[in-house]
Amino acid sequence: MGETLMGETVRLSIYRFDPERDDEPRMQDFEAPVTRRGMKLLDALNYIKWNVDGTLSFRRSCGEGVCGSDGMNINGVNGLACITDVAGLKQPIRVRPLPGMRVIRDLVVDTSHFFEQYRFIKPWLRTEAPAPEHERPQTPAERAELDGFYECILCACCTTSCPSWWWNGERFLGPATLLQADRWIRDSRDEATGERLDALEDAFRLYRCHQIMNCMEACPKGLNPTRAIDHIKRLLLLRKS
Ligand code: SF4
Ligand code: SF4
Ligand code: FES
Repeated sequence: MGETLMGETVRLSIYRFDPERDDEPRMQDFEAPVTRRGMKLLDALNYIKWNVDGTLSFRRSCGEGVCGSDGMNINGVNGLACITDVAGLKQPIRVRPLPGMRVIRDLVVDTSHFFEQYRFIKPWLRTEAPAPEHERPQTPAERAELDGFYECILCACCTTSCPSWWWNGERFLGPATLLQADRWIRDSRDEATGERLDALEDAFRLYRCHQIMNCMEACPKGLNPTRAIDHIKRLLLLRKS
């Protein structure tokens, strides 16, 4: 399909499941009018929720690709509904929850374990030295080390596209958390690099990545978790030699 035109409609097939009422999930067909040029998938979902079926459940907040709350599986690929153009998507657009997470309702998944894993890497600046009077300075080069890392919005699109995480998600930390771990390891102001590496040196937490690269393809921010995972592995090798 090419560009969608005002006055046209888009057809969607959306995953529905309410564990309190339904025995099993089903796909439900909907239509939504094209309301503007560059219409996004989130516009269509909002239209359906506000005008057709108020029980349709999904998360969203910023609408701008910043909060990371509307990750979902769109025609088989994870992405953010708010920055996905409906134009160009094969119809009916098949919309499902992020794979590998328990469904709470419709497109809303339980992210508790994902954020527990994130907390495990202690995602904050850890220092021993007394705090300076004003700030902890970085050179432009040190700051540039964080490019490609600080932009992560924890949408989980990468982690939930990773087969290793589907199979070993209880123990493998997954690409998003490992990218965040590397973000702190790379931070020139952080003084806990050794402890951070100790916590990752584990057959499952880190080494279950088999370089399948789904994570990189799924990231709506264009980030590369495999680069982070490689970097951590290299640092672990270096400190052994
Ligand atoms: S490269 Fe590693 S982290 Fe990324 S999808 Fe593959 S196994 Fe998962
Ligand atoms: S690395 Fe990309 S896909 Fe993964 S959580 Fe961060 S922003 Fe989302
Ligand atoms: S609604 Fe915030 S990233 Fe899509």
